[in-house]
Amino acid sequence: MRSRYRSFAKLNLHLQVVGRRRDGYHELRTLFQTIDLHDLLTVEPAARGVELTTAGLELPVASANLASRAAAAYFERWPAGAGVRLHLEKRIPVGGGLGGGSSNAATVLLALRERFGVPAAMAELWPVARALGADVPYFLVGGSALGFGRGDEVVAIPDLAAQELHVAVPPVAVSTAAVFAALPESPEAPLAASLLALAAGWSPPSLDGLELWNDLQPTVLATVPEVDAVYTALLRSGAVGVRLSGSGGCLFARLPAGAQAEIAQRLPAGTGLLATRTLGRQEVAARRTVT
Ligand code: C5P
Repeated sequence: MRSRYRSFAKLNLHLQVVGRRRDGYHELRTLFQTIDLHDLLTVEPAARGVELTTAGLELPVASANLASRAAAAYFERWPAGAGVRLHLEKRIPVGGGLGGGSSNAATVLLALRERFGVPAAMAELWPVARALGADVPYFLVGGSALGFGRGDEVVAIPDLAAQELHVAVPPVAVSTAAVFAALPESPEAPLAASLLALAAGWSPPSLDGLELWNDLQPTVLATVPEVDAVYTALLRSGAVGVRLSGSGGCLFARLPAGAQAEIAQRLPAGTGLLATRTLGRQEVAARRTVT
């Protein structure tokens, strides 16, 4: 029997880089937030092996796709399952900093656990998720969460107040590895006061109470002119709280009510503008399975 799942995107509402690690990665402090933009994943048991088909956006070859790598990693660890056919309908922009590939990988792990009944404890998925990519563990949790280390040490926090947002999608894919490689030396920095407060249970009434920040943003704006052009156009159009998500190139912002159509016209050619909203952890879990 086939099952269908929503694989949601994330924003990094806040992202600090506080140093380079010995393993070549960067030490992060970030605030993740799920949004309702999602891919659709169909999972169907197969005799053996992992098969992946896609529709929507251009994707790298099947073997390189994080969704099939997640299924392969699952079967390697829990051989109880035989095989699986995956189909991905992509809507989350690739190379946008919205975590689409990582979300797909986590959704595959959750779907296979549901399908085959192993592992008994969700926590056993964590090491498998971490080995797949720094953002994958977050998607096992969803909602509002803090990320430390490579971003893969995840601490769930009470969900932030729901918020409507817009995501601008520049007509360019940004390489995360290239952005981190181009970063200037990161100074030691204290944990942002608002993250500290969130970790202690503070719940701001709206995102206005948060310091929205992204240490990757200056490097991306300086090196990817397509993203810089969209950023400038959004600021000029009256958008509020314009920030890069992750390593970009997507930017999120709040737009004046009813202004979406007019602002979309003023953005550089080929730029998408999506209306979305934040999702809490329970809503993510409740809406994951398509019924
Ligand atoms: O883990 P993931 O494959 O998503 O990361 C892509 C690349 O981004 C890594 O190979 C690394 O170069 C860079 N990165 C980093 N520090 C992080 C996360 C990613 O330097 N915390």
